Amino acid sequence: MKVLVIGSGGREHALAWAIRKSSRVTEVVCAPGNGGMAQVARLVNANQKDVNDILRVVVAENPDLTVIGPEVPLALGLVDEMQRRSLAVFGPTRAAAMLETSKSFAKRFMQRHQIPTANYAVCTTAEEALSSLDLFHLPVVIKADGLAAGKGVLICNTKKEAQDGIAGLFSGKLLGTVETSVVIEEFLEGEEVSFLVLSDGKHGAPLVPAQDHKRIGEGDTGPNTGGMGVYSTDSILDPQMSEWIMHHIVQPTIDGMATEDTPFVGILYCGLMMTARGPMVLEYNTRFGDPETQAILVRLESDLLDGLEACVAGRLSETEFRWRKGASACVVAASQGYPGSYTTGQPITGLEEAAKISGVEVFHAGTSLLDGQYLTNGGRVLAVTAASNTLEDALRLAYEGIGKIRFDGMYYRRDIGHRALKKV
Ligand code: AMP
Ligand code: GLY
Repeated sequence: MKVLVIGSGGREHALAWAIRKSSRVTEVVCAPGNGGMAQVARLVNANQKDVNDILRVVVAENPDLTVIGPEVPLALGLVDEMQRRSLAVFGPTRAAAMLETSKSFAKRFMQRHQIPTANYAVCTTAEEALSSLDLFHLPVVIKADGLAAGKGVLICNTKKEAQDGIAGLFSGKLLGTVETSVVIEEFLEGEEVSFLVLSDGKHGAPLVPAQDHKRIGEGDTGPNTGGMGVYSTDSILDPQMSEWIMHHIVQPTIDGMATEDTPFVGILYCGLMMTARGPMVLEYNTRFGDPETQAILVRLESDLLDGLEACVAGRLSETEFRWRKGASACVVAASQGYPGSYTTGQPITGLEEAAKISGVEVFHAGTSLLDGQYLTNGGRVLAVTAASNTLEDALRLAYEGIGKIRFDGMYYRRDIGHRALKKV
């Protein structure tokens, strides 16, 4: 089989790496990919924010399956276009991706289907939002309705902050685009868990759970990022809790989407808060998480491609997944300045030494390859990932790996896994 992966981040490197391991795969092609992905795939140029350009690549390459990494092509309806042309594709349609692309849609959907989530109000004018604020205790959460690359969520500790946030979203000053709809939400407390589930439209198959570290600074301080590191262990959720989440959150989501004639096929990423009132959905994503995917896939022992194909063919209930027991950890190396502005083009050294450590995989998130030299080419540059029998050991290996790597302005958090380690 020839498989095409759309995207260029650490998530897509991990997807291509896992797909490449399948005995049925003869070639993996990535569009556009990144410097490091050339180790596992052939790279083809493409503008991943342009459906027509991606379709051009799909038609030229004629893969047996296309796997879409990021959310933007899903929001633009790439899957719908491919299905119209009978091209095999893994990912949700534009309508199904609304679970991620519209927070007001997701909140109302959860309410229709009694899926636990924070109390909320959807407001379409600043006046309405300002008067709705009185319905909420502080802190209060204000969310832009649409995709905002992690920048659309404001946690406001004072009424003034909330009022300024609302004004900034509706005026366009905050995100650069004028919001026509904003969600105000009750602030939830607890541990966050990334619970990812493959879905064929009827059935769900959970992947191992993971915990992300979204803030740039150690001790979970500073601005939000795409994710600075992640770990996965079996003990994040005990089997009864996973069962509960499947029964009360995942299956009602899959069934709800099916009954509304927008069946969900692809990966359903439930961002959960484990509150005193039980697990609640903070958000849905309709794609693999980054860097969750890197930590999850190093624990997958069975064939990822089998799982992806089963989703597309509607036979997920017959597919078995095998996971390595123990733990994995992933530490992200970022460019100085991220998530703000940063420079690119810095030479990276030590990659081979890091990759030589048994149990360590160095996934590239934002790199380019020029005359045999890897250069930084993004905010998040590398995702150094390791699997082992214990979390302590997986973290030790990931940090040993990242310790071999150098580039000018390299930054990484040294406390990945701190919440889990505290509990031991
Ligand atoms: P989202 O883009 O909805 O995942 O939000 C980004 C981050 O904001 C989440 O990972 C949480 O850390 C935080 N967050 C979102 N909604 C809430 C909420 N209702 N209560 C507390 N924290 C939240
Ligand atoms: N790591 C968070 C996300 O992929 O949305």
